[in-house]
Amino acid sequence: MASSNAGRKGPLDFVRPHLLTLAPYEAVDPPDVLAKKAGMPESQTAKLNGNENPYGPSPRVAEMMAAVNRMHIYPDPAQVAMRTALGEFLGVPKDQIVVGNGSDEIIDLVFRCVLDQGDAVINCEPTFGMYEFTAHVCGGRTITIERDEHFAVDVDAVLAAVDERTKIVAIASPNNPSGNCTPLEDIERLLAADILVLMDEAYIEFGGTSVATWVARHPNLIVLRTFSKWGGLAGLRIGYGIMAAELADLLLRAKPPYNVNQASEAAMLATLSDIDTLNQRADLIVLEREKMLAALAEMPGVDPLPSEANFLLCRMPEGRGKAVYESLARQGVFVRYYSRASLADYLRISIGTPEQTTQVIEAMIQALAE
Ligand SMILES: Cc1ncc(COP(=O)(O)O)c(C=O)c1O
Repeated sequence: MASSNAGRKGPLDFVRPHLLTLAPYEAVDPPDVLAKKAGMPESQTAKLNGNENPYGPSPRVAEMMAAVNRMHIYPDPAQVAMRTALGEFLGVPKDQIVVGNGSDEIIDLVFRCVLDQGDAVINCEPTFGMYEFTAHVCGGRTITIERDEHFAVDVDAVLAAVDERTKIVAIASPNNPSGNCTPLEDIERLLAADILVLMDEAYIEFGGTSVATWVARHPNLIVLRTFSKWGGLAGLRIGYGIMAAELADLLLRAKPPYNVNQASEAAMLATLSDIDTLNQRADLIVLEREKMLAALAEMPGVDPLPSEANFLLCRMPEGRGKAVYESLARQGVFVRYYSRASLADYLRISIGTPEQTTQVIEAMIQALAE
């Protein structure tokens, strides 16, 4: 007999009210979906919208993943092998390291552990969207401080915005999407404030100076790193945080126990055993970045910004950003377009192989001529 649901709560009545209108994070589609939309074979397209590594992982990754013989056993919740190998790679004690399912998970863990309802994260826009998204999901709020006309962090404005409900300032360096680094003296100034300073170094292997070893003398510093870019492992989701040992210990207790799977662990250890290969590829990407920058700068009305990362933010002729983006997509070149008004004329182009650079340049000439 069918029971009546009249007067009963619906499933969404149990949800935290601020999440009922949650807009999803604007993630990028996989290459087969993008190719289908463009109506061409995937092999003819160039996916340059996710800042992924065009050379993929170290060849040792497939070998070590194939050799994993304990797939029926849960991975080590204490992540000892990974944290030990990372500690040696970074020159920091393993007690300061927590590994996550992508650095996205470390952002989520930090914010979940730190933010009470209504606490604030200072966000220096334009920047990576996950800080604002995650703060919102956790019940926090963001205080937006706009970067200046060169996309530099306005340190005075950040410091002036700190109040007793401000817990974190999040800064990507190199920044996504602008590609510039925050000067070390600015980071020092931020660290003097009574808040956690989250330095996201997702692109540090392509430029800039890491502050990972500063954690020893700055207990309010958290550094995020990832294997998604330099490591070519975006699909396996491996990131990590470096932070004061007592905070790392708390995150290790608060995380889902088996958050990094055995295949990912094998991939990370294989990568760390083949650093020279990854560094050589990073050098190729940096060379290609400078080649692409020079080629784009030649185009009338096109203004690429210098970058320390594996992508370029590039200003299109005024009012043409969206049209150029759409034309590139029709030609099978997928780049990143932003709905944010201040970036309406800009496209972000990930650096690919030399062949992909040629494809981008040819497609861009065509798009600009339309
Ligand atoms: C600045 C920044 N941080 C973090 C991430 C996410 O990294 P992961 O793949 O490790 O979650 C990205 C991805 O694009 C990024 O641009």
